[in-house]
Amino acid sequence: MKFTYILSLLVLCLTLYFTFANAANFNITNKCTYTVWAAASTGDGRQLDRGQSWSLDVAPGTTKARIWGRTNCKFDANGQGQCQTGDCNKRLKCQGYGNPPNTLAEFALNQPNNLDYIDISNVDGFNIPMEFSSVTPCRVIKCSKPIVDQCPAQLRTPGGCNNPCTVFKRNEYCCTNGPGSCGPTDFSRFFKSRCPDAYSYPQDDRTSLFACPSGTNYRVVFCP
Ligand SMILES: *[C@@H]1O[C@H](CO)[C@@H](O)[C@H](O)[C@H]1NC(C)=O
Repeated sequence: MKFTYILSLLVLCLTLYFTFANAANFNITNKCTYTVWAAASTGDGRQLDRGQSWSLDVAPGTTKARIWGRTNCKFDANGQGQCQTGDCNKRLKCQGYGNPPNTLAEFALNQPNNLDYIDISNVDGFNIPMEFSSVTPCRVIKCSKPIVDQCPAQLRTPGGCNNPCTVFKRNEYCCTNGPGSCGPTDFSRFFKSRCPDAYSYPQDDRTSLFACPSGTNYRVVFCP
């Protein structure tokens, strides 16, 4: 009985240690003239009025995670509602990814060789201009051209510019048949010419994925 108790306490301490000791901090700021409902796939979300910031800690080792912004949302007191772009299952606090179109800040923390990997992606379309950078000097990624205004007619949707996979559901855009089965298209080139440092199609890693030392803290700015 006593041993089990001590063991649980030890497990709890270790869990807390790995959760908080080396958490990466993300300072998320809304510099847009409009309200943005920031979202994190790690189970969080928050309304950011113009000029407001949100300090979010993310557990070490978190991978396949994203932060994005939602527009024109309405939520009730229980955090249930809906957004025009970026909606995540009608919740203020997201559990998982949002609906396209949404500009994404993606990251994988504490990967081999003590590296974090970060990127901005237009693979799920574009809704809000974004800058994703390290607090200590390492990398500044920016995607802030007027992509919604310039969006090709086929990709236009209220509040954003869709990704072609969402609209056409074909492998050449979605890459569902795996790596090597898709490449740049006229649509991906539309995004790439405006945001050269952001993913424009699923296999666009070479010019879009960046590494920073693990332990780095980050900034995400909407409308930099
Ligand atoms: C987050 O960033 C904003 C804008 O750059 C800054 O004003 C604010 O002080 C930062 N917050 C923290 C906790 O560092």
